[in-house]
Amino acid sequence: MRLRITVLPGDGIGPEVTTQAVQVLRTVADVCGYNFEFTTRLIGGAAVEDSGHPLPKKTLDTCLESDAVLLGAVGGPQFDGLAPHLRPEAGLLAIRQALGCYANLRPAIAHESIADCSPLRPEVRRGADVLIVRELLGGLYFGEPRALDEEHRSAYNTMRYSEHEIERIARVAFEAARERKKKVTSVDKANVLETSRFWRTVVTRVAKDYPDVKLEHALVDSFAMQLITTPTRYDVVVTENLFGDILSDEAAVISGSLGLLSSASIGGPVGLYEPVHGSAPDIAGKGIANPLGAIASAAMLLRYSAKLIGEADGIEAAIRNTLDAGYRTADLATSEATKKRANTTEQVGARVAETVSDMLNRRMAYHAV
Ligand code: IPM
Ligand code: MN
Repeated sequence: MRLRITVLPGDGIGPEVTTQAVQVLRTVADVCGYNFEFTTRLIGGAAVEDSGHPLPKKTLDTCLESDAVLLGAVGGPQFDGLAPHLRPEAGLLAIRQALGCYANLRPAIAHESIADCSPLRPEVRRGADVLIVRELLGGLYFGEPRALDEEHRSAYNTMRYSEHEIERIARVAFEAARERKKKVTSVDKANVLETSRFWRTVVTRVAKDYPDVKLEHALVDSFAMQLITTPTRYDVVVTENLFGDILSDEAAVISGSLGLLSSASIGGPVGLYEPVHGSAPDIAGKGIANPLGAIASAAMLLRYSAKLIGEADGIEAAIRNTLDAGYRTADLATSEATKKRANTTEQVGARVAETVSDMLNRRMAYHAV
């Protein structure tokens, strides 16, 4: 098994958390005898500082030649003054587009052992397991025309969706639901927006091909409330780009910390895997960031880009086990006292790597008998 992985650490805490994720992947490769090749490239603010461009050609070429891309985070206050096309975020949007990743999968799971980290009451949150399927290449993020029209003191963006764009993301959601609890909630604003009314029509038609999956529609404003008041009602949630961006941060409340959330951006020739959290410049370089979102993204990389399902399950089980054993970075601390005793990025990453190594070794010993 040979896997070429491009690592894009990016800015802020990106380098710290991707180091841990790569360590876990190396451990899997060692134990299972696979050949994972890692190539590191610049993106975002780090790339702007190096070459003046947030997505250098060298970075893009390496990504296109690899089997999967693991990204940390981009952005930082020092780049806020840059022209829009030179901002770190422009590099991220450009790579998503260049890799054709139209489907962004963002799971939010309520681990029981960190119930006290969520502001939600334990009985509200218990058992919640939601997968947000966010459309990633359309809507307001990419719609034309768009402009900041200084002369007329106005600005505009365009929300636009083609039937093809809606249909393909809907299929990803229905396929995912088939492997889960067979329920899809499509979130829109059909009481106001044409794009949403069209979205509803297309999703409803696609649903006919999946009679085993239950489809419901929800309006984004009331859904935003219900997602955290009754999170266990939901299984797969499919929605357009900006709604998905907002709702996936909200879903972090179900887990307990944004630092835990992972994502897979798929649909094109090369998958892109990144934690949902940003570059968190305020804690960058301190070794205190939560690496579990990045590590869980590495698990998704093995699942979707390499079809190494057992190994992906192994990493996810090791994450659960690490949380169950009481390992917590500062974002999961519930008081000033526990914050002082919090684990470092490196401690949590090392513990996941050790655990996954034990698990996979035991599994292989078992199969060898
Ligand atoms: C995310 C981020 C990005 C987005 C930004 C950094 C461009 O918030 O991945 O959710 O809006 O998609
Ligand atoms: Mn976001």
